[in-house]
Amino acid sequence: MKNIVITGASSGIGRASAIKLSEDINNRLFLISRNEAKLNDLLNKIKGNRDRIIIMPFDVISGDYNELSHQIKEIAGTVDVLINNAGALINKPFSEIIIDDFDLMVNTNFKGPFFLIQRLLPILNSGAHIVNISSMGGFQGSVKFPGLSVYSSSKGALAILTECLALELKQVGISVNCLALGSVQTDMLKEAFPGYQAPLTSETMAEFIADFALNGHKWINGKIIPVSISTP
Ligand SMILES: NC(=O)c1ccc[n+]([C@@H]2O[C@H](COP(=O)([O-])OP(=O)(O)OC[C@H]3O[C@@H](n4cnc5c(N)ncnc54)[C@H](OP(=O)(O)O)[C@@H]3O)[C@@H](O)[C@H]2O)c1
Repeated sequence: MKNIVITGASSGIGRASAIKLSEDINNRLFLISRNEAKLNDLLNKIKGNRDRIIIMPFDVISGDYNELSHQIKEIAGTVDVLINNAGALINKPFSEIIIDDFDLMVNTNFKGPFFLIQRLLPILNSGAHIVNISSMGGFQGSVKFPGLSVYSSSKGALAILTECLALELKQVGISVNCLALGSVQTDMLKEAFPGYQAPLTSETMAEFIADFALNGHKWINGKIIPVSISTP
């Protein structure tokens, strides 16, 4: 049985990744987000063995990471895969960003994954894979778009954290990789860029993420990988 933790599982890419990973009866999923109703909706959609799908309403900004880690340990013992997917995006010109915007994005996209990894560390298996979901905007040298100064910087921080942790956690057998996603048609994208049509659905992106999370670390560690057909 593989124990897989996914943050931001209530919608978009995280939800689609959860559905994809639930297809294998050898996977036990811990699905994290704030919106309990949406998580319950997902639970109803994922048919079959309910004791393999555990929903955990939790805020990655303000939640008690130690308690979350304890709850997962009680059920699973250890964790094999952590997908840090929860994210926040406010599209605003640099000069108009207020501290609340800054805090929301940096805390969701960087601080949350940082401390979630730290607190789950004692229950991460040797051989575990941490997958951080970043963005092409946070990939050095990529085309940049106006309005994304905080979002892209926070995703860049997550990418560099990946490289740092791959080195530090190598000695305990934990791999850490980062996927810098191109645009995917989700609520986040619709809200930030009304009228724009992304070339990929969440389901298509989830096929890649699910397979990568289970297998990617057999070949690579500490890498920031562009997964995009939209951004050069
Ligand atoms: N869509 C794209 O084009 C694109 C491109 C590059 C990267 N990404 C990244 O892909 C990831 C998924 O985004 P998406 O497009 O699928 O967006 P989405 O549909 O808006 O999903 C975002 C998820 O994050 C969760 N979340 C947000 N704040 C949270 C918090 N404080 N605590 C716990 N969960 C929280 C939301 O759940 P609740 O509201 O229930 O908490 C939701 O499940 C994000 O990291 C995003 O930056 C997306």
